Amino acid sequence: MIYFDNSATTKPFKEVLDSYVKVSSEYFGNPSSLHSMGIQAEKLLSQARLQVANLLEVKPSEIYFTSGGTESNNLAIKGTALFHKNRGRHIIVSSVEHPSVRGAMKQLNREGFEITYLPVDSSGRVHVEDVKRAIRNDTILVSVMQVNNEVGTIQPIKEIGEVVKEHTSAIFHVDAVQALAKVPLQLYNHHVDLCSFSGHKFHGLKGTGGLFIRNGVKLDPIFSGGNQEWKMRSGTENVAGAVAMAKALRMTMEKTNTGVEQMNKLMSLLRTGLSRIEDVTFNTPLENVAPHILNFSIPGIKAEVMIHALEQKNIFLSTTSACSSKQKSPSKTLLAMGVPERVADSAFRISLSYENSVEEAGTVITAIEEAVKQLRKVMK
Ligand SMILES: Cc1ncc(COP(=O)(O)O)c(C=O)c1O
Repeated sequence: MIYFDNSATTKPFKEVLDSYVKVSSEYFGNPSSLHSMGIQAEKLLSQARLQVANLLEVKPSEIYFTSGGTESNNLAIKGTALFHKNRGRHIIVSSVEHPSVRGAMKQLNREGFEITYLPVDSSGRVHVEDVKRAIRNDTILVSVMQVNNEVGTIQPIKEIGEVVKEHTSAIFHVDAVQALAKVPLQLYNHHVDLCSFSGHKFHGLKGTGGLFIRNGVKLDPIFSGGNQEWKMRSGTENVAGAVAMAKALRMTMEKTNTGVEQMNKLMSLLRTGLSRIEDVTFNTPLENVAPHILNFSIPGIKAEVMIHALEQKNIFLSTTSACSSKQKSPSKTLLAMGVPERVADSAFRISLSYENSVEEAGTVITAIEEAVKQLRKVMK
């Protein structure tokens, strides 16, 4: 089996699963309970928080565990809007965000918030001058992802952070779900106030994630309940999930340097190999790009048909993003980049993990070439 769909999700590390099972079976107390089992669970949760904080070079009091990227994005965006609505109702966001951000914006817009969508250039990048121009006195939030999940473009987070810091008191949120452990981010230096991440994107488990909330940044919670996570995220904590996520993050970050080198090698092989296919176009730019994502189009080939043809050979990749792959409309990210609809319609995404090999890349190139030949023959 060749799994090239790591932006959709990654395979959990065995050690991560072992930790999850151990904590779930031996330390299953509720961290809010007053007895020793509760205290033990609370201790494990604090240790996981400290580990994540150390890896992200922030304070443990700034790490809030959530159920994943979607929840973190919703908490960051709606929590900011709820808390700051009397100060202003204007929000700035890029036009290539994940549906969890885009959907939250739509909902806030219906509630009377005004949303400015930043354009992107043909490489999918936001321009800092556009952020500067969009800032108003009533801007309360700027939200820009670090790495785009469909094409892999890295946004100029440091520069945007500087502009936000210099020109407004708005909060700066970064969705780093596709970036963490692959692309560096210095939360303090880059003036990030809120940052979302998700465990299953770095070999942790689904249903685990977190939000960095810089000390002093004010949000309203969106869940009401038992006031866990310093009143910011009610609900009994997923202690085993948090421990597993901390371990997954440590293990992935330990592999970052050699892993990124390996991915760069595979990407270069994939680009060279796939460019032999007639009419292929690469939607992923060559610069300012994450090491794990390659988006390309083979116009005339129906993306869905190709995905299933490759599946027959035990090769798994994706059309665009996992969330939008079942939708029939072309990718909004590609359209925002100015990719023609016909080209966007036949877009594929390969997304690597540090575990993928040169041999796998070679097999995938050959399989795609053969599938294209066969499909083109059928279409004639
Ligand atoms: C950029 C980005 N943000 C947010 C999410 C949502 O994360 P989760 O699946 O943990 O809810 C994803 C998932 O694909 C993503 O790629």
